[in-house]
Formats: sequence, structure tokens, C-alpha cells
Amino acid sequence: MTEPLVLGIESTCDETGVALVRGRTLLADVTASSMDEHARYGGIVPEVASRAHLEALRPTITQALAAAEVTLADVDAIAVASGPGLVGSLTVGTAGAKALALGLGLPLYGVNHVVGHAAVDELVHGAFPERFLALVVSGGHSSLLLVNDIATDVVELGQTLDDAAGEAFDKVGRLLGLPYPGGPHVDRLAKEGDPRAIAFPRGLSKGRELARHPYDFSFSGLKTAVARYIEGRTDAGEEWSKADVAASFSEAVADVLVTKTLRACAEHDVSTLVIGGGFSANSRLRELAAQRCEEAGVEVRIPPIRYCTDNGAMIAALGSALVRAGVAPSPLDLAVDSSMSL
Ligand code: KG4
Ligand code: ZN
Repeated sequence: MTEPLVLGIESTCDETGVALVRGRTLLADVTASSMDEHARYGGIVPEVASRAHLEALRPTITQALAAAEVTLADVDAIAVASGPGLVGSLTVGTAGAKALALGLGLPLYGVNHVVGHAAVDELVHGAFPERFLALVVSGGHSSLLLVNDIATDVVELGQTLDDAAGEAFDKVGRLLGLPYPGGPHVDRLAKEGDPRAIAFPRGLSKGRELARHPYDFSFSGLKTAVARYIEGRTDAGEEWSKADVAASFSEAVADVLVTKTLRACAEHDVSTLVIGGGFSANSRLRELAAQRCEEAGVEVRIPPIRYCTDNGAMIAALGSALVRAGVAPSPLDLAVDSSMSL
């Protein structure tokens, strides 16, 4: 018997994503982004994002079905990210998903977007091991997940208490006068600098703070330290290197993320790490994770970047896992939850 065909819808932020997954096989994944419209405001404008989803949703569904060479009549279940995210954006995606489920008489699965970032790796690297850790890092989230079962048992070990990793990069990008979103620009500049030039703080990494927050992150103090450093040099009329600031800042972020993640791997006796979210594109994070995980005997799985940024495949993948696990569908009056936790 062929496995059920799941249509997944992602609309938590600025990407409208629709994908079709059968079992662990991705048949189509189409994404429309409104990022260009937000760039001129220097950040995501929720109202602009909601309207863009409204315009993009139908054509994106049509394109995904065509790309998978199927019709709506072939679909067996609908999955949608019902949180966390922007409430207006979530409302558009879930309304579309409910309409499809109701109209076609199909089960509806509301899923957690952050877990989706981990789930998508199964489409790329095959079935998950029994237990693994997932580090989900993007402009909106920085979470460390212990995954006992992707469909039924995911525990959030820690998350950022303030800025997400990508958000901190975007803010430092602004301090360095780089275009929005600054993350990739800071990353590029960092390659020309000395990561040991400036000793920036590693948040929640020592003493009582570490004991209270072993797996949480905090990047706002680091961002403030960068701002103070730049201000101090500028006020004193001293020369300073943008590349050194970018490199030392990148080092601090990657160091904290990898150190805490590996500590969690050791404590939970886990030997597989999945990294997801748009920030997984960061070069220093990739290098440091590869190097230290090899030393620690931990296998690292990072999907290609198009599956790390927000997309429909991650939602369809998680929906497919729920169907496989026999989890009960969501009610048709499924509510969105902008700050959904696990
Ligand atoms: O997952 P994503 O596309 O969108 C969400 O935030 O959900 O992640 C984008 C974030 C932005 O903050 C962006 O600046 C950051 O990830 N980013 C990077 C890099 N590529 C993207 N930050 C640092 N280095 C990069 N290479
Ligand atoms: Zn995301």
C-alpha cells in the first residue's frame, strides 16, 4: 500500500510554503517570500506579511500540486504550522488549511513550526535514529530540542531568553552599517577578521547563570557589548576593524551554541545532532559544529539551506510523521498560537 500523501502549509513569518510529502519522500516544495517587501523597512512588517500570504497561498498550492504531478483529489491529509509565529500570518495559513480539510473531507494536523525545522531532515538524510538533539536557529528562534520521537515526544531543553541568533546577527549588522538582513553580511565580513581580536561575552555560560540555564541562550548582552565596543572606539577617536568585530562576535555566538549543544548531547547520551533554521547557514557555526562534534563522536546532520529556511517541506514532513505515528488529527476549529511552546 502506498503511504498517505500529505500537503503541508507554512505561513508563520514571511515565507508562504507549500509542499507535498509521501512517507519520507518529498514530491514538491514551493516557496513564495515577501522578504523583498520588508527589506526596505529594515524588518518584517506583520501586516505586509499577512497580505502577502493571502495573495500567495492559492497560487503556491497550485504550483506545488503541479510540480508533484498530483491533484487535490490525491491528497490524504493536510498539515499546517499553527505556531509559533506572527498571528496574522498564521491565521492566513491555517484558514487555508482548514478550508482544504473541510472541503475535501481530509484530516487536519496543526503542527509546531520549530519542530518542523528538525523534522525536515528526515526527507534529506533518511529515517531518524531513536533519539537525537536538534538545534533550531534562525531569525525567530534558537531552541535546543531533545527528540525522543519526532511525532510524539519532543522536549525543549532550552531556548533563547532574548534575541534569536539570527536576530542578534541582524542587529550587529545594523551596528556595522550593513544592509538588512545583516546575518549573511556579518558572516562574510567575519571571514576577513580575527575571531580572537576581541573577547566578547558568552551569555549564560558561567557559574550560577549556567547552573540555572544550562541549555538556554542569551544574545542581547553580547549585542550590547558589541555596541559599547564600537561606541568606545569611536568616542576615543581610535581606529577599529569591522572585520575583527564581525569575526569575534561570530565566534562568541557559535561557541556558545556548540558548547551548550554538545554538553546536552553528553548529558542525554545522544550521538546525533540535527541543525536547522536559516541561521544554520552561518559558516562559523558549521565549522565549529563539524570540528567539535567529530571530536565528541557526534554525527551532525544539516539539511541543504533551502530546507533550513522556512518552507512547506518541514511542515509536510512533520505532518507525515504524525500520520505514520497514528496521532489524532486536530479539530477544524484549530486555534493559532503565536508563542506556541512544546
Ligand atoms: O530561518 P530564516 O530564513 O527565517 C526565520 O527567521 O525564521 O532565518 C533567517 C535569519 C536571519 O536573521 C538572517 O540574518 C540569518 O538567519 N542568517 C544568517 C546567515 N544566513 C542567514 N546569520 C548569520 N550567518 C549567515 N550566513
Ligand atoms: Zn523558522
